[in-house]
Amino acid sequence: MIKKISFTVALGLASLGALSGQKCILTGLWRNELGSKMQIQEVKGDGTFSGEYKTAVSLARRPIQPASLNGSQHFDEAGQPTFGFTVNWKSFSDSTTVFTGQCFVDENGKEILETMWLLREKAKAPNGWEATRVGTNVFSRIKGQNVDESLRGDGAR
Ligand code: BTN
Repeated sequence: MIKKISFTVALGLASLGALSGQKCILTGLWRNELGSKMQIQEVKGDGTFSGEYKTAVSLARRPIQPASLNGSQHFDEAGQPTFGFTVNWKSFSDSTTVFTGQCFVDENGKEILETMWLLREKAKAPNGWEATRVGTNVFSRIKGQNVDESLRGDGAR
């Protein structure tokens, strides 16, 4: 009986350990607090990745379109890697945004991406000083959605 209880306790502790050791995976569909969505494709062996970003907000006059993103991440032991990516908004805007951040997993296994970004608008000299905005975004993983419909369809915002 005591052996059985010890085994159950050991098993419980092992699962807790596994839970806290869950690695944060960038691949997937994410949404931030503005309602913007991004799809990150498979992260390659060298840490590089690409994907698509559908912003919910824009400074541009032209209608919002999905934009390509390219980035790279670290592979750290703890599985809470830092990363960076660039979004080129060329299909509807002259701006470029760079994001840097870290992927965190909490004790319940929920993943978030804490990011900070710089957005450079196209300016005419000597007005370069006013052309950069800075901000933060937190992304949560979206589960159980069709990725293509979600980024391209009406439900994207
Ligand atoms: C533009 O307006 O010129 C392009 C779109 C920029 C959208 C920005 S990028 C930082 C912030 N986070 C978002 O999800 N959207 C805005």
